[in-house]
Amino acid sequence: MLIRGGTVLDQAGRRRSDVRLEEGRVGEVAPDLAPADGEEILDAAGCIVSPGFVDLHTHLREPGREEAETIETGSRAAARGGFTCVVAMPNTDPTQDSVSVVEFVRAQGEAAGLCDVRPSGSITIGRLGEQLSPLAELAAVGVHLFTDDGDGVQDPLLMRRALEYAADLHHDGTPIVLAQHCEVKRLTEGAVMHEGHCCSRFGLPGWPAVAEELMVYRDIELVRLTGAPVHILHLSTARSVELVRAAKADGLPVTAEATPHHISLTDELLEGYSAIYKVNPPLRTMADVEAVRAGLADGTIDAIATDHAPHAPETKEQPLDQAPPGMLGLETALGVSLAHLDMDVTNVVAALSWKPAAIAGVADEHGRPIEAGEPANLTVFDPDETWEVQPANLASKSRNTPYIGVPLTGRTRHTILRGTAVVIDGAATR
Ligand code: DOR
Repeated sequence: MLIRGGTVLDQAGRRRSDVRLEEGRVGEVAPDLAPADGEEILDAAGCIVSPGFVDLHTHLREPGREEAETIETGSRAAARGGFTCVVAMPNTDPTQDSVSVVEFVRAQGEAAGLCDVRPSGSITIGRLGEQLSPLAELAAVGVHLFTDDGDGVQDPLLMRRALEYAADLHHDGTPIVLAQHCEVKRLTEGAVMHEGHCCSRFGLPGWPAVAEELMVYRDIELVRLTGAPVHILHLSTARSVELVRAAKADGLPVTAEATPHHISLTDELLEGYSAIYKVNPPLRTMADVEAVRAGLADGTIDAIATDHAPHAPETKEQPLDQAPPGMLGLETALGVSLAHLDMDVTNVVAALSWKPAAIAGVADEHGRPIEAGEPANLTVFDPDETWEVQPANLASKSRNTPYIGVPLTGRTRHTILRGTAVVIDGAATR
């Protein structure tokens, strides 16, 4: 297959180049390659050819919530968004806290064949925050990232023990990573949106920024104590950004991600009481949005991660206090990021590709430089195309996107997984 007419963009920068793929790997990379007889050609004119995107934070809902998403529909949404690898969050039913559930998720991902599905494991059994999951056993079958996402580990002693235990665990030579959903639950009981001027005006119970920041601070100090790495999920407040910046300046192994919705939407959107804007952590103020954008721009925040959280319409149509939090993210992540970040495209791709690949422990296969011999996991996207989401056209089984009618910039044209085009001209091939 020959990817023709595009601009290659990777860790080495940008250059006008065609890319030939051979047996699942990158073959030649040079300008104006002549097509061989019968060679399949993918048109990349006006497009960027980059390493495939890696999502650190995808809810695929299977097993247990197949009415909202399945591993197949979620992987298709990922591929259409330009992702060649996703980390599947563990808040399934049953929880991804055992080898059998993790192997099931991985096998379903392989069967769908649309992107690499890397299951995370929960830190605690059932995500109940009481007893540690069999971290060593799960690491031995290839689980790299552990999290109780949906909830943070509330008990500081249990988190300390998890980090002490994790410090000695490796997967393929790299230390496993504990990823925290930072939320002190006692401070967010009953909350449906960010605590601030807007929630007072709307008469809605608020989720204070400090509920996130206390756990960010606690976990940074536990990293300092134990030396084990922590990844902070969906960081959303200005003060959290400052805490992570200071931790990095101290040389601590702390990484962080931000979602497309926390760099593009604010708490004012709850004005109409629509649960489409209910998400956890909640949409914050414009000052927070700007601080998160600045954190991405200066590298304090390593990665853009979607927190793709599909929910069936009948659940999202419930009143605000009963509707579950979460919004779709995979198919709009690139378009939201390029529309809302004042960053060079190379840095946006870094935050979508090789930086999250390193955190997810998949840097041997994803987010690789585009050079001969490297695995052909690639995304071809038009950085300038402006477009709007058509709900009927989404690959996800759910429709809970807040971006209907919102102009986005940048769209995936083709996605290549191990040398096979799984998306061509925006359409999934399987
Ligand atoms: O909004 C959210 N939805 N935040 C989470 O942490 C969990 C997620 C979900 O699973 O729906």
